[in-house]
Amino acid sequence: MAKRIPKELYKTDTGDGAIFQPYVLQKPNSTFTESFKILRTNVQFSLKLSQPKTLLITSSNAGEGKTTISANLAISFANAGFKTILIDSDLRVPMVHKEFNLKNEKGLSNYLNEEVEWKSIVHTLPVENLSVITAGLIPPNSAELLSSPRMGSFVKEVLAPYQMAIFDSAPVNLVADTQIISPLMDGVMVIVSSGSTRKIDIQKTRESLQYANVIGYVMNMLFKNAESYYQYRYKSNYYSKKTSSHPDV
Ligand SMILES: Nc1ncnc2c1ncn2[C@@H]1O[C@H](COP(=O)(O)OP(=O)(O)O)[C@@H](O)[C@H]1O
Ligand SMILES: [Mg+2]
Repeated sequence: MAKRIPKELYKTDTGDGAIFQPYVLQKPNSTFTESFKILRTNVQFSLKLSQPKTLLITSSNAGEGKTTISANLAISFANAGFKTILIDSDLRVPMVHKEFNLKNEKGLSNYLNEEVEWKSIVHTLPVENLSVITAGLIPPNSAELLSSPRMGSFVKEVLAPYQMAIFDSAPVNLVADTQIISPLMDGVMVIVSSGSTRKIDIQKTRESLQYANVIGYVMNMLFKNAESYYQYRYKSNYYSKKTSSHPDV
């Protein structure tokens, strides 16, 4: 679960020149940040993190929170001491560089196109344990680049030194790009946006990801009443063992 972030708190300037937009960096003690620790723990359990692991974050449509969750989850892993890399594999509408205020002159697309070596596309951040590869210049042939053997060797070799590699990605129901790379990943996490993702969207996404290891679904943008429901549920489970049924997805 990831609750809806209050508008006034999302994307602010930290005042020291760096614009750190991911909320987890701004509010380390918030319930939103807490939900990323829970998500991180669930991923660790389902992937049994003892060797380099790749996790693809995706969803059915645009605007459901893929980039937001990828960035915040990557920070959460880095904060927990994992050598983490966040990769923007949405080559059509790249956004990760904006989250971290990075240049996107060269990135994954340029590497796959054999224009640059991998070392030149890795950004190190002032966040310990976290590196970022941006998407690079928007190519005309993203599906072809992502299905090339160079993408396979990128995942196997370039990411080998990292303990956690998180891929932000394009919407599964709109373009083939994410379906193409999904079988290369150890795990795939699907974001569902509370109130906007429809059941039929999720069904279509599941079909497209049938060759991938889908490890779970994350509900994003919970409204306040849903959020307090979950806070209540969390607390009541903790303190008084009261239980309730889940709300509809
Ligand atoms: N939990 C959240 N609370 C509030 N706003 C959110 C949340 N998750 C995403 N957003 C906002 O919704 C918009 C779309 O999110 P984004 O992560 O870019 O989606 P996607 O990558 O799936 O297109 C962005 O403006 C983002 O800031
Ligand atoms: Mg995005």
